[in-house]
Amino acid sequence: MSRSTSEELTQQIRSAIDIVDLISEHVQLKKSGRSMIGLCPFHSEKTPSFHVSAERQFFHCFGCKAGGDVFSFIMQMEQLTFPEAQRKLAERAGIQLPATHSADGEKENTAKLAMYEAHKLVAKLYHHVLTSMPYGQKAMEYLRKRGMSDQTIAEFQIGFAPDSWDFLTNWLQKRGFSLPVMVEAGLLARSESGQRIYDRFRGRIMFPIHDTQGEVIGFGGRSLDGSPPKYLNSPESPLFSKSSVIFNLHRSRTSIRKRKQAILFEGYVDVISAWQAGIQQGIATLGTAFTEQQARMIRRNAEQVIICYDGDAAGQEATEKAVDLLQQAGCAVRVAPLPQGVDPDEYIRRNGAEAFSQNVLLQALPVTAFRLQKLRTRQVIRDESDQARYVQEALSIITQLPSAVERDMYERQLAEEFSLSLDAIKVEARKAYKRQKLHQQRDKVTPAWNNSINNGKFTLTKTLPPAHQTAERMLLYYMMRSREVADRVQQECGARFYTDEHSALAAYLYAYYAEGHPEDPGRFIHYVQDEKCKQLASGLAMMECKEHVSELEISDYIRQVNNYPMRAELDELRAEQQKLTLQAANEEDEDARRQTVIQAAMLGMRIHELENALKEKGSDH
Ligand code: UTP
Ligand code: MN
Repeated sequence: MSRSTSEELTQQIRSAIDIVDLISEHVQLKKSGRSMIGLCPFHSEKTPSFHVSAERQFFHCFGCKAGGDVFSFIMQMEQLTFPEAQRKLAERAGIQLPATHSADGEKENTAKLAMYEAHKLVAKLYHHVLTSMPYGQKAMEYLRKRGMSDQTIAEFQIGFAPDSWDFLTNWLQKRGFSLPVMVEAGLLARSESGQRIYDRFRGRIMFPIHDTQGEVIGFGGRSLDGSPPKYLNSPESPLFSKSSVIFNLHRSRTSIRKRKQAILFEGYVDVISAWQAGIQQGIATLGTAFTEQQARMIRRNAEQVIICYDGDAAGQEATEKAVDLLQQAGCAVRVAPLPQGVDPDEYIRRNGAEAFSQNVLLQALPVTAFRLQKLRTRQVIRDESDQARYVQEALSIITQLPSAVERDMYERQLAEEFSLSLDAIKVEARKAYKRQKLHQQRDKVTPAWNNSINNGKFTLTKTLPPAHQTAERMLLYYMMRSREVADRVQQECGARFYTDEHSALAAYLYAYYAEGHPEDPGRFIHYVQDEKCKQLASGLAMMECKEHVSELEISDYIRQVNNYPMRAELDELRAEQQKLTLQAANEEDEDARRQTVIQAAMLGMRIHELENALKEKGSDH
């Protein structure tokens, strides 16, 4: 593609896709003033600083400064190169891409596309094997016995990989897929010697795993005959990264957003069972440790998360880890109680959907209550010293709560439970709190989290920018919208912006218009190569300024920018003069005093000169 056709295409795609629609699939957006705002997907935050403008078709995060148009968004969100993003968005917009020749990265790109295509087809194939071929019969019986309906099997496109070394290998080869690429995609495996390529999944029930866009990117395969491992998952591949995949998120998203609530399970089958029982906001991680990234993905869709892990020790331990990460990501967390040794799927099968809703989900406890309950069931209290230890441990859980009202509530409960006076409990609580504080200070870590909330208090660190900086920003803002303003600024200021980043952006603007591009901030942001400048541009473009600006205002801004060096010198001289005057007043030696007075007078002349020059230029100062 030549540069100009590529650019035309980019423009065509940009006007066909609404950025609000696109971003809404990843971030929950709310209207606020002229923008839509939400939690930034590119950094951790609890209060939204991610703005999307429908009117101007770009986004900007005031927290991490990420910003840009639909292309920048999808590139950052899905770690795509520009051609990949172009292809993806073109497809979405229904725009035909011209056939391309081997540009850089094209090969890699084709491989990735083949991997997506293969996953889509293989999911279909395995599903077909399960439902319609003799190979799949035993697996089908097994699933039916476990209570899975045909509808569920179809909805989740559950499949079966025959117990064969070359079933899939042959099938893929016949369809022209490159076998090494299929090994990289994780559908096939390669023998240690590297000589032989064979089917990775054999004799397994296959659960397709999708990305947030609903594309199949991997599989979880459950062994049918019990040969280990029980579940074999796809390996890490260019499509599939366990730490950032959540099973069923694409399917449950609508329901999760509607209820503002997600239910986090441990296993695929738990999610599927719950779904079949009418509970559609279930998701699961893939048998690996829950990650910060997954917590953030969840937070973007849900305000509350109910953790519903197995009732065994491992499940409880995993619960604690998930609680921490989810709370740090800003989710309100509850923990659903399951009887020991039962997982959600078994519970639903034994007791039905209604009982699961009533006795498990609705009984979900706030984290503190859950921790206290766990403590209570673990400790046997026989005498006073057991009781004292229990109270101490309970208090160390309670004092972690940021809300005084909630602490008070639990403290009262504790006092009542052991017939202790509330005063005594409060005294102990204060001690426990102090101990904890000390502890925290000792291993102080700077929280990587949140920029705006600290212990529930807002911290405003921003200082007001100096006037000339504001003037520079206003000029750049209008230059992005008007070639005329840009031309004028180029003539009258050139590169004389005081802030380096501002002059760099101005230089980009001059070049942009010189190359004959139209007045369009979205296009301009795209044109800017340098990441820092791009961020600056998207931030500026997001400013809410009035659409029309008078020539007088522009003159004023230009003057402020041009006069800045003189004004800066003036300020310096005035300060110096003041210092000398003071020095003179305190000088005892007559001769030295006279010298100082003369110096100050000379400074005064230069100051006068500068003041006049500024006045001539019509400065407001
Ligand atoms: P479980 O062992 O609890 O399985 O693993 P399950 O969901 O109850 O499945 P059934 O009912 O026996 O069929 C929970 C999750 O842990 C991961 C899988 O993601 C599974 O869904 N896992 C488990 C693995 O990745 N590998 C394993 O060998 C086992
Ligand atoms: Mn199970």
